[in-house]
Amino acid sequence: MPRCRVNLGTVTFLLILQGAVVVLLCGWYVQLSPCSSPPSNPKVHVLLLSSWRSGSSFVGQVFSQHPSVFYLMEPAWHIWTSMQKQGAKKLRMAVRDLIRSVFQCDLSVMDAYLPENSGVSSLFMWSHSRALCSPPVCLLTSRDELSNQTLCNEKCNAQGLQKAEEACSTYSHVVLKEVRFFELESLYPLLQDPNLNLRIIHLVRDPRAVGRSREASAKALLSDNNVVLEHKSFPPAEVQYQVIQEICRSHVRINERAILKPPPFLKGRYKMVRYEDVALNPLEEIKSMYEFVGLEMTRKLGDWIFNVTHGKGQGTRKDAFKITSRNAADVSQAWRTAMPYNKVSRIQDVCKGAMSLLGYRSVHSDKEQKKLDIDLLVPKEPYQFSWLPVKTQHPSED
Ligand SMILES: *[C@@H]1O[C@H](CO)[C@@H](O)[C@H](O)[C@H]1NC(C)=O
Ligand SMILES: *[C@@H]1O[C@H](CO)[C@@H](O)[C@H](O)[C@H]1NC(C)=O
Repeated sequence: MPRCRVNLGTVTFLLILQGAVVVLLCGWYVQLSPCSSPPSNPKVHVLLLSSWRSGSSFVGQVFSQHPSVFYLMEPAWHIWTSMQKQGAKKLRMAVRDLIRSVFQCDLSVMDAYLPENSGVSSLFMWSHSRALCSPPVCLLTSRDELSNQTLCNEKCNAQGLQKAEEACSTYSHVVLKEVRFFELESLYPLLQDPNLNLRIIHLVRDPRAVGRSREASAKALLSDNNVVLEHKSFPPAEVQYQVIQEICRSHVRINERAILKPPPFLKGRYKMVRYEDVALNPLEEIKSMYEFVGLEMTRKLGDWIFNVTHGKGQGTRKDAFKITSRNAADVSQAWRTAMPYNKVSRIQDVCKGAMSLLGYRSVHSDKEQKKLDIDLLVPKEPYQFSWLPVKTQHPSED
């Protein structure tokens, strides 16, 4: 019996010691494992900021098909088409505020732009959103399956927008694709809103390839051109160069703002992506975009991305807004054989500053243009590190 006798002081000491060890270990554990830190799993909101004919439909699909993403394509299309008589400058705050509401899953903001009693199918390109083809909006495609636009168009059309709002609130990521921003400043309030946790992916493409693709879908772009050009009139042959110049200027404006003199709240929230890099290296580039916004690559998505970028699987319709599964790397070079040198040269002229900033080399003759073994893409690595001190004057664009 005497051996079991323990002194009260020792017990108290041991208990305190044990407590201290537990507290210490827990603190250590919490630091090591981000999952057990406070309920900081805020929703991420992603703006895929791009321009017409720059591969944003494809990159948009890459997000739309992800099981954690609620995606909408061009919600601000409704503003531009409802108010076609205005110019882009006047509309940009309306566009900004609409984006903010949609990020917050408040689709009542669409009331102003949609006919009465509209359903989900009144939303621009709604069937491109896998989330609008999935529960609770529609029972067609389960959330972790790849959706099929054609089928979705046929089978899904929820009445009203309540189900879409309900769906939106259940995803960890809301991704919106927009081509209607020409600067970042109007987005500052959104970038500073801690509840939005906004990320911007700025998708750019070689303006010569954009020029060629715009020619192929010229009609579909007429009304937007007028808004971009603030309804100034130009000779018809001149319009496309003027629009491309505006687009190039906006790339420079946005990229310089984000990289050269970013306000503190922009740090870590902006990523520029060149479409050509995506075409050359789809899986790696897409993985890095996912990582930037906190999404995981799945096996199924990886297979699908491989298929659509290597000309396998769906899609031959020549719709101006449809992604097709052609060989992505070939498509990004098509302008070199399909466009006459004088047009190429004109685009290089109006986009000189943007091309040097973004890493696209000019050609100086028809021969050089058509010689496909001459690489016109400045490799990604060096330009990423060198664009800080690179020339910041763009005489042709000022
Ligand atoms: C990719 O293509 C292969 C071969 O055509 C096909 O068997 C597979 O189902 C496709 N996968 C996806 C996810 O599209
Ligand atoms: C989508 O559905 C349509 C209509 O059933 C079908 O013809 C097409 O092959 C489907 N596409 C894919 C990629 O499964």
